[in-house]
Amino acid sequence: METPLHKALQKRQVTAIVFLLLLWEAGSATVKYSILEETDRGSLVGNLAKDLGLGLRDLAIRGAQILNKGNKQLLQLEQKSGNLVLKEKLDREELCGSTDPCILYFQVLLKSPVQFIQGEIQLQDVNDHAPEFMEDEILLKILESSHPGTKFPLKIAQDLDVGSNTVQNYTISINSHFHLLTRNHSDGRKYPELVLDKALDREEQAEVRLTLTALDGGTPPKTGTTQVLIMVLDINDNAPEFAQGLYEVQVQENSPVGSLVITVSARDLDTGVHGELSYSLFQSSNQVLRAFEINSDTGEIRIRKLLDFEEIQSYHMEIEASDGGGLSGKCTVVIDVTDVNDNAPDLTMSLLISEIPENSPETVVAIFGISDPDSGENGKMICSIQGQLPFLLKPNGDNFYTLVTEGPLDRESRAEYNITITVTDMGTPRLTTQHTITVQVSDINDNAPAFTQSSYTLFVQENNSPALHIGTISATDSDSGSNAHITYSLLPTHDPQLPLSSLISVNADNGQLFALRSLDYETLQTFEFYVGATDQGSPALSSQALVRVQVLDTNDNAPFVLYPLQNASAPFTELLPRAAEPGYLVTKVVAVDRDSGQNAWLSFQLLKATEPGLFSVWAHNGEVRTSRLLSERDAPKHRLLLLVKDNGDPQRSASVTLQVVVVDGFSQPYLPLPEVAKDPTQDEDLLTLYLVIALASVSSLFLLSVLLFVGVRLCRRARAASVGGCTVPEGHFPGHLVDVSGTGTLSQSYQYEVCLTGGTGTNEFKFLKPVLPNFLNETVYRNNEEHSNFRDHLGFN
Ligand SMILES: *[C@@H]1O[C@H](CO)[C@@H](O)[C@H](O)[C@H]1NC(C)=O
Ligand SMILES: *[C@@H]1O[C@H](CO)[C@@H](O)[C@H](O)[C@H]1NC(C)=O
Ligand SMILES: *[C@@H]1O[C@H](CO)[C@@H](O)[C@H](O)[C@H]1NC(C)=O
Ligand SMILES: *[C@@H]1O[C@H](CO)[C@@H](O)[C@H](O)[C@H]1NC(C)=O
Repeated sequence: METPLHKALQKRQVTAIVFLLLLWEAGSATVKYSILEETDRGSLVGNLAKDLGLGLRDLAIRGAQILNKGNKQLLQLEQKSGNLVLKEKLDREELCGSTDPCILYFQVLLKSPVQFIQGEIQLQDVNDHAPEFMEDEILLKILESSHPGTKFPLKIAQDLDVGSNTVQNYTISINSHFHLLTRNHSDGRKYPELVLDKALDREEQAEVRLTLTALDGGTPPKTGTTQVLIMVLDINDNAPEFAQGLYEVQVQENSPVGSLVITVSARDLDTGVHGELSYSLFQSSNQVLRAFEINSDTGEIRIRKLLDFEEIQSYHMEIEASDGGGLSGKCTVVIDVTDVNDNAPDLTMSLLISEIPENSPETVVAIFGISDPDSGENGKMICSIQGQLPFLLKPNGDNFYTLVTEGPLDRESRAEYNITITVTDMGTPRLTTQHTITVQVSDINDNAPAFTQSSYTLFVQENNSPALHIGTISATDSDSGSNAHITYSLLPTHDPQLPLSSLISVNADNGQLFALRSLDYETLQTFEFYVGATDQGSPALSSQALVRVQVLDTNDNAPFVLYPLQNASAPFTELLPRAAEPGYLVTKVVAVDRDSGQNAWLSFQLLKATEPGLFSVWAHNGEVRTSRLLSERDAPKHRLLLLVKDNGDPQRSASVTLQVVVVDGFSQPYLPLPEVAKDPTQDEDLLTLYLVIALASVSSLFLLSVLLFVGVRLCRRARAASVGGCTVPEGHFPGHLVDVSGTGTLSQSYQYEVCLTGGTGTNEFKFLKPVLPNFLNETVYRNNEEHSNFRDHLGFN
C-alpha cells in the first residue's frame, strides 16, 4: 500500500514552483520553491542561476552565497551548475512540528554588487506517520439505564503529520449496540464519538469489546487501532458536571515547573462512591501531556516542564471528571502562553570585509542577520552603530543588514575603525546585543611625494673635490608602504647646453646631491635643474623641485696683464720726451682678473725702478706718470718693474716689466699746466694737479673720441669688406666705450670699457674690461642669463 508514495520519492519528483518577484526598489527579489519532505540529500531544489536570470559566470563573479536563517545549513549552491540542492534530508515534523504550512527561509547574497534575494522553501508534508492511540485499551463505563442516542466521546489518536495527512476518520468494529461518529474540535482535531443504538442489559452482557480504528487522509490512508472495553454498570444517578464548559487561562512562558496554572472543578450530586470525583487529561495531544499534569483529586493543573512561547503558543486540552460509578463529565481548558522577553537579539555575521580600500565610493563592509526568537515587541529589533562613524546600516530584506561606508574614506586621516553594532529589542526590559568589528582602511597611492621646499639653493666653493656632497633634498609621502617609498632622480634639463649628468648626481634613496667634478666659477657661476621624487605606487606619483647651485668664487686666477704684452721676448718700450712735464702719462698698465668681486679688485704698485723718484704708479688705475721734470743727468733708459695684485685671499699677483726710453725733441705735451710746476712739493697740490690733469685728459679724450667716432665710422665703412672680425659694435657707438687708440700710448688694437666712479682722489678704476673678441665671450658667461655660448668655451664638447 506504500508503493506509490515510495515510487514518488525514489523518482525524486520534486515540485519546484518558482515565483520571481523582482522588487528592485527594495533591492531584493524573492524566489520560492516547494519540495516534499524526506527528499534525499543532494536532491535538486531548483536551478538558481536560471531562476534569477543570471548566467553561471555571473553567479561566480558576483560571489553568490546562500545564507540560511539560523545556524543550520540546509541548502547548498552548486557553483558549476547553478543548482540549489539539499544539504541534508529534511524532516518536516522536526523542523515545523504542527505548524502548517512549513516554510523555510533563506537568502541569496550576491556580493558584488551587493544584492539580496529572499528565498522560501515550502516543505510539503508526506504521509510518513500513522495515527497512534496512547493506550492499547480504552475503558468506557456505561450505565445499563443509558438511553439509545446517548453519546460517549472516546480518546483520540495522534498523528505527527499535518493537514490531510493527519487523522481524518474513525471507525469502530461492527457490533449490534453502537455506531461511531467522527467529530471536530474547535482547533480542527477530529475525535471519535460512540453513539448508543440499542439499550444495554448488564445481566445479558456485562462488557462489550470493540476495535477503534483511526484513519488519516493519505492515499492510501494509514491507520492505528485500539481496543475499547465497555463495562455495563448498575445504577448511578448523576454524572459529574464541570462548573464551566470552557476554561481559558494565560500563563507566562518560563513559569517555574510545578506552578499552578488553573484548578478545574466538577461536582456530582451523588454521594459515596458515586460522588467521588477524579480528574484526568482526556483527548490531549502529546504536547499537552508533556507540558502539563493534573492532580486527579483536586483538579489542579500544573506545569510539568518549562513552557516556551517560541515553540507553542497555545494548548488545548479536554479534562474528564469521573465518578466512582463510571460516569464522567468533560470540559475544555485553553492555556495561552504569553511571551516574556527572555531572548536577547542574536547577530549572525554573514560577510565581513576587514580591509577596505580608501577613496572608494560606498563599499560593503559587512553583511549580517539579526534575530530574536521572542514575539511581538519583544522580538522587534533596532539596529544601530555607535559613535559618529562614516558608516551606514542599510536594512536588506527581512532582518538582514548591510554595513556600508558612507563615502570615500581617507587612510591618511584615519586608518582603522572599530564599529560597534548594537541590536536592541523593544521588550521590557530591553535586551541588547553588541558586536564590534574592526575595519582597516588600506592604502591607495593618492598622495604625491611633497618636497620640503619648493626650491633649493646650494652653494659650492669652486675647485671642489669631485663627488662632494653639496646638499640634500628631501620629500615626504603621507601614504604608506611602497606608496610612500620615494626615489629621487634628476629630471632632464631643458637647457641642452648644460651637461647636467656629468655635473651632478643624486642618491636615489636619500636625496643627497653630489657635485661629480670640480666646478669652475670662471666658466659656470650658477646653474639650475629640477629633481623629481617618485613613489612606488601603482600608478606612481611624483613631484619636482627646483635646485639652484651657485658656485662661489675663490681667488684662483692671478691678474692678467693685457697691456703691455708680457710674452714678448724683449720688454716693452715706451718713449718719454725729455721735456715732459711732471705728471706726464708715460703709459697705462692694463690688467684683468678672471675672478670676481674682491678677488678681481686690482691694485698697481711700482716695485722697482732704475730711478726710483722719477716715476709713480697710480695704485688704482695703473697709470705710470713722471713725478718730476727730467734733467740732463737722468739716464736715457729706465727699467720699471710693476706689480699687479688682486684683493683676494690668498692674494695673487702678476708683474709687469716696462722699459722707458727718454728721447729728445719729442713733441711737447699738448696741455702744459703752469700751476703744476709752482708747488711740486706739496702733496695736496700734486693731487689737485693730478685731478685736473685727469679731468682734462678725460675731457680731451671724450672730445677726441667724438672725433674719432666720426673718423672711425667713415674709415670702417671703407674697410668693412676687408676686415673680418669687427671689435666695436657697428652703428651706434656706446657712450661708455672710449676708443683710446689715438692717445699715442695705447696700441690701436685695444679698446677698453672705462668705468669711472665719480668722487675725489680715491677714485677707483673699477673695471677695465677688454672688449677683445677672445675675452668678450668669456666675460659674457659671468652673466647668469647667458648660457648659450659657454659650451664651446668650457670645452664640454
Ligand atoms: C469514514 O469512514 C467510513 C467507513 O469507512 C465512511 O463510510 C465515511 O464516509 C468516512 N468519512 C469520511 C469523512 O471520510
Ligand atoms: C468537520 O470539519 C470538516 C472539514 O474539516 C467538515 O467537512 C465537516 O463537515 C465537519 N464536521 C462536523 C461534524 O462539523
Ligand atoms: C580598536 O580596538 C582594538 C582592540 O580593542 C584596539 O587595539 C584599537 O586601538 C582600536 N582602534 C581604534 C581606532 O579605536
Ligand atoms: C702674446 O700673447 C698674445 C695674447 O695671448 C698673443 O696674441 C700673441 O701672439 C703673443 N705673442 C707672442 C710673441 O707670443
